[in-house]
Amino acid sequence: MLATLPVFAALLARASGSPKSRTTHSNIILDNGAEFEAYHPPNTFEVFETGIDTPLSTRATKPHFKDNALSFLHSRLGSNAVQYRSGYEGDVAAHVYVHQQFNGIRVANAVANVAQNKAGKVTSFGSSFVQSPRNVASPTPKISSSQAVNKATAALGGALIPGRDVQLEYLATDDGDVVLVHVVPIEFTDGKNVLAYVNAASGVVVSVITQTFDATFRAIPPTLNNPNDGFALIENPEDPLASPNGWTTINGVDTHATNGTNIRAIVYTTKATIPESSDDVWDSTWDPTVQPTVAANTRAAGINSFHLANVIHDITYRYGFTEEAFNFQGNDPIIVNVQSTIGTNNAFFSTAPDGTSGQIHMLLWTLTTPRRDGDVENDVLAHEWTHGLSTRLTGGGVSTCLNTLESQGLGEGWSDSFADWLAQTSEDLKDFELGAYVFTKGIRTKPYSVDPTINNYTYSLFQQSSTDPHFFGELWAEVLHLQLDALIKEHGFADDAHTNPDSTAGNVVWLHLFIDALALQPCNPTFLQARLAWIQADANRYNGANKCLLWGIFAGRGIGVNADSSHVDNFDLPADC
Ligand SMILES: *[C@@H]1O[C@H](CO)[C@@H](O)[C@H](O)[C@H]1NC(C)=O
Ligand SMILES: *[C@@H]1O[C@H](CO)[C@@H](O)[C@H](O)[C@H]1NC(C)=O
Ligand SMILES: [Zn+2]
Repeated sequence: MLATLPVFAALLARASGSPKSRTTHSNIILDNGAEFEAYHPPNTFEVFETGIDTPLSTRATKPHFKDNALSFLHSRLGSNAVQYRSGYEGDVAAHVYVHQQFNGIRVANAVANVAQNKAGKVTSFGSSFVQSPRNVASPTPKISSSQAVNKATAALGGALIPGRDVQLEYLATDDGDVVLVHVVPIEFTDGKNVLAYVNAASGVVVSVITQTFDATFRAIPPTLNNPNDGFALIENPEDPLASPNGWTTINGVDTHATNGTNIRAIVYTTKATIPESSDDVWDSTWDPTVQPTVAANTRAAGINSFHLANVIHDITYRYGFTEEAFNFQGNDPIIVNVQSTIGTNNAFFSTAPDGTSGQIHMLLWTLTTPRRDGDVENDVLAHEWTHGLSTRLTGGGVSTCLNTLESQGLGEGWSDSFADWLAQTSEDLKDFELGAYVFTKGIRTKPYSVDPTINNYTYSLFQQSSTDPHFFGELWAEVLHLQLDALIKEHGFADDAHTNPDSTAGNVVWLHLFIDALALQPCNPTFLQARLAWIQADANRYNGANKCLLWGIFAGRGIGVNADSSHVDNFDLPADC
């Protein structure tokens, strides 16, 4: 799977093919039975701890971060090869994202990213640029974009997503050519989205990537989980820094409904938002003895999803997922489809590039009577929301950089892991199980636990033949659970972590590393690269104060310093640890 549009991830596995390689290829099987492949050129990722100079950074006047990063990229990749795409300055690192280009046209799947610290030194560099391609196609298309849409929908089914443009781009293929493609965003009637790359000379669909990933308010407090824990009337939960105009105001006008600048919650079957019960109050009653779809329960479910989705917006904003960092806000709020009927027993997130809304689908679960509703299990929504965070921050707002099996595994891991972080309330880390309410027991193969008799997954899990990214994600989420435990033991636990990112407590350090590392890592990262980005994030923000502690956790689970793509466990620490 390859370049730019909405992304679809499910909470549980869906049908998928077996890719040729877990790090450079992906497969997708569509509802019409057609199977497509996509190629992601091999990438490199280097980290430089305290940083290295660029050709510009030694000058007397400090260059702008964008010029400085481009001078580094030009020196490494050639100035004619590089096309700037996006960049922003965070509180500890500035990030620049570029594409490879030929004839002024960007190569969808050949990208690079560079981060620099406040001293203007480059601290990390990722690249999937292709070297000396066999042939670069003419920049003039032989078929029009509307012909390309017809070719794509004939092969895939579905239709062009309304309001979305077809882009002309290059695409690197695994036989060494660079072909000209029309990139067609397609949606299917079940709400799932893909990007189809149609050869602009032959009209053949050469690649398809998924864009859909799994999956005063009366609400279940964010540190609790489901109706068995109870709803509470929560007053003024809006964070004044992250949401200065509150959660229900758009362009200065109060919508009096679950319709705001960060999140829009709509009941899927009616497309209606949920109105306030009295001025600025969203009250509700949840009756667990009747179906979740009775009117009062639907209302309670929608209010809960709206509340939690905004809480997560506000937390992640404080930790750096701002509009400059390509978040969902303003012209692209996350749309939460409450009690969506596109399926059952799952949940989905469809991402899209910065400027276009992401879509969460919360579904009903049929394993119990009455049925259960993902809208009222906080960890399910937190999992889905985090797909938006990981797909937007990796690669700089494109939503097309978590597509290989290993990267998708990381994506599932981050999603479980953020839900785990949200559920922890004290320095004694609880074992964490996702989906225990809707699924009646934990949905993954093991709980996340510091107890090795409960979870002992190591890097060699990859030697198993699964093609389910959720399975490999369990290793990543377990490792991040251990990282959280180690950081809390070292630095303590802050109760105000949601609103105080300046705290030195371990749970705050962990969320900074989590969000910082996403922006550092290369497009389509491997577990080894995500590990390096996590450690570099500590070098950027904390001068590497936690370096050996973090390596110790990775090495303890076989992702040691000498681990390689053979996925044999390696328990080695760096020489200086
Ligand atoms: C949300 O509010 C905006 C701005 O008032 C409006 O244009 C839009 O139609 C509303 N959406 C829904 C689903 O009510
Ligand atoms: C991991 O745990 C399982 C189940 O408890 C056990 O069968 C297996 O031997 C353990 N593996 C290691 C490497 O300790
Ligand atoms: Zn997921």
